[in-house]
Amino acid sequence: MSIINGKGISLPHLAVIIAFGCLICLTIYSYWSSIPALYTALYPAPAPKDKQHFLSDVTEDKPILLLWDWPGNYRFDFSDCKTIYNIDSCNLTDDRSLYNDSDAVLIFHEAISWNLSSLPPSPHPPFQKWIWFHVEPPTKIKKIPGLENLFNLTLSYKQDADIPVQMSLITSKKPNEEFVILKKDKLVCWFLSKNDSSTGVGTRNKFYQEFSKYINVTVIKTAYVKFLDYYNYYQTMARCKFYLVFQNSIYNDYITDKLSRPLAAGTVPVVLGPPRKNYANFVPAESFIHVNDFPDAKSLAEYLLQLDKDKDAYRKYFDWRKHLNPTLHLIQQTQEFILPICTACDYVARHREYKEES
Ligand SMILES: *[C@@H]1O[C@H](CO)[C@@H](O)[C@H](O)[C@H]1NC(C)=O
Ligand SMILES: *[C@@H]1O[C@H](CO)[C@@H](O)[C@H](O)[C@H]1NC(C)=O
Ligand SMILES: *[C@@H]1O[C@H](CO)[C@@H](O)[C@H](O)[C@H]1NC(C)=O
Ligand SMILES: *[C@@H]1O[C@H](CO)[C@@H](O)[C@H](O)[C@H]1NC(C)=O
Ligand SMILES: *[C@@H]1O[C@H](CO)[C@@H](O)[C@H](O)[C@H]1NC(C)=O
Ligand SMILES: *[C@@H]1O[C@H](CO)[C@@H](O)[C@H](O)[C@H]1NC(C)=O
Repeated sequence: MSIINGKGISLPHLAVIIAFGCLICLTIYSYWSSIPALYTALYPAPAPKDKQHFLSDVTEDKPILLLWDWPGNYRFDFSDCKTIYNIDSCNLTDDRSLYNDSDAVLIFHEAISWNLSSLPPSPHPPFQKWIWFHVEPPTKIKKIPGLENLFNLTLSYKQDADIPVQMSLITSKKPNEEFVILKKDKLVCWFLSKNDSSTGVGTRNKFYQEFSKYINVTVIKTAYVKFLDYYNYYQTMARCKFYLVFQNSIYNDYITDKLSRPLAAGTVPVVLGPPRKNYANFVPAESFIHVNDFPDAKSLAEYLLQLDKDKDAYRKYFDWRKHLNPTLHLIQQTQEFILPICTACDYVARHREYKEES
């Protein structure tokens, strides 16, 4: 109003203003439309408020997220968050000298010492959030006294954590009518990692013992698999008609990406773990076979042998691929913590309310 009421506005001025406005709109549009499908699949569409954040991010400093300890000492290049998940919204660092400036500190539970001397100095700077980061199922978390009331946020695979790590199959919604099932030369495969009775493998061993009486299972030790590169890992998996995903511990939400890998590879997972309903929160319900769908191991084996002979019935397990294109998941143990850490980065950048108001 003031411009118009004041000296008036000349036509060339108006043109410049309109052109500038268009340029801004175009920039925003191309920014949003360039976010890859991977990212949109991982995260639901952001609320309008977040858009404002992105606009101001151009000039504003990114929040600093300090990784206090490297989980498992598996180091990776922080730029992987951008290259793999297109997450580039925070300033990730492991430089402890930035502690006083850090908006959030990510603290890996397994690295906390019993006497708490490994924790960052307390009290926190008032704006700073401590994130309690753990990846183990609840009962396997060592109970360290004195941790109560130290943390502001939790990060875990539990879907009710403040920052839940998505274990969903990552897909894009490209139509894919021509999905071809690769040639199979093995019936049932099992990539066996730990067979250590202390990790609660009892249930699955008992089931497996009975199951393998009725059907041939190719057991591939992960000690071998871990030397396979990305391509050969998925190739090995794809050659199996069925693939056993037997969780060693059974907890809701702790489904791990062991299930996403066979789905991405193009085999049919046979799962033992939490109830079918919980799995269906993470992957298409018609893409896998659940052992609880059968009264016993014998009937499951019989069903698989029957599917082996019935091409059309087997193919039904791949119908979901007509609508969804899965992305290959990271396979190396050393890459285990990349997704949780990048997820924390994304969260911290999207939740800066406290700091802005101070
Ligand atoms: C991260 O933050 C530190 C401390 O403010 C700053 O020195 C550094 O340049 C920042 N890095 C990036 C990539 O923004
Ligand atoms: C952080 O601030 C505290 C108190 O202001 C100070 O004692 C400490 O040396 C600072 N730490 C670093 C790493 O700068
Ligand atoms: C705390 O425990 C660590 C080993 O876990 C030890 O090196 C350190 O000296 C202990 N610190 C205190 C203050 O007792
Ligand atoms: C985080 O938690 C600590 C301890 O409970 C509290 O003092 C601090 O105000 C909290 N910080 C934020 C940013 O919420
Ligand atoms: C796992 O270990 C148990 C004994 O602890 C053994 O009976 C079983 O055969 C082993 N499973 C495989 C697949 O090697
Ligand atoms: C498993 O395969 C072997 C050799 O290929 C065969 O002799 C055996 O009968 C098979 N067992 C079952 C349960 O099908």
